Amino acid sequence: MERLLTRKVCALWVPCLYSCSRNMSSFHRCVPQKLSHQTPQHLLQRKLQKKSTIILRCAGEMKREKPMSWKLFAVMTVCCGGLYAGYEYFDRRWKKEKIMATYGNVGSPQIGGAWTLTDHNEVERTDKEFRGKWLLVYFGFTHCPDICPDELEKIAKVVDHFNKQPNGPRVKPLFVTIDPERDTKEIMKKYCEEFTPELLGLTGTREQLQSIYEKFHVYFKYGEEDETGDYLVDHTLLTYLMTPDGLYADHFSKRSTFDKMIQNMTLRMDKKESNKS
Ligand code: NI
Repeated sequence: MERLLTRKVCALWVPCLYSCSRNMSSFHRCVPQKLSHQTPQHLLQRKLQKKSTIILRCAGEMKREKPMSWKLFAVMTVCCGGLYAGYEYFDRRWKKEKIMATYGNVGSPQIGGAWTLTDHNEVERTDKEFRGKWLLVYFGFTHCPDICPDELEKIAKVVDHFNKQPNGPRVKPLFVTIDPERDTKEIMKKYCEEFTPELLGLTGTREQLQSIYEKFHVYFKYGEEDETGDYLVDHTLLTYLMTPDGLYADHFSKRSTFDKMIQNMTLRMDKKESNKS
């Protein structure tokens, strides 16, 4: 609405300026011409009628004035266009800076953000520690019978593909539990090492976990317990790719193959490199 109003106001500049300049130019041309023909005596005689006469004469002159030339109109249009383009440019820049200052993320969905968790070695970790590395963030639970292991295996292969290149970008996989009751640090450590020593299991307090779930829009729902007390957790099956600046880049689903992930990530990494240089 604000933008629309601004556009409307800007669109009115041209006719307004056209009209103003026409009137102004008529007035300036009219008044000195009329006054120059008046002698002081003449003016005194017509003291009481002076103002109204001049105004009437000017009005008469103005009626006979030729419309503003097309050249001047074109110049004014270009000037107004320039002003409008300048306004649009700075307005967009200010808004972008404002969003950057508020969220630190522009042009992409609001996924991710600051978090603090504890890893499977009982070390406190924050998102900032991983700056400079591409992150693959996966949310799951160690008791998952099939999907989580399949996804983590695929992630491990992708990470290995990039990290074995000596000068390539580094990729760090993170596994955030959605079942902190059962996923103790010991269980997570053993579980993660089965896939790749690079995989870091993360857990935390209820508040810390809730915060990261919200930031990554993670959905999960606990199933009913069976007679042995075991239960399943229905959950989001996405792997989030985060840039070395900690921003959301993309996500991969169960259907994203190893080749597709490599292809997509390579493209993004190359683009990031070319933007840097
Ligand atoms: Ni699972």
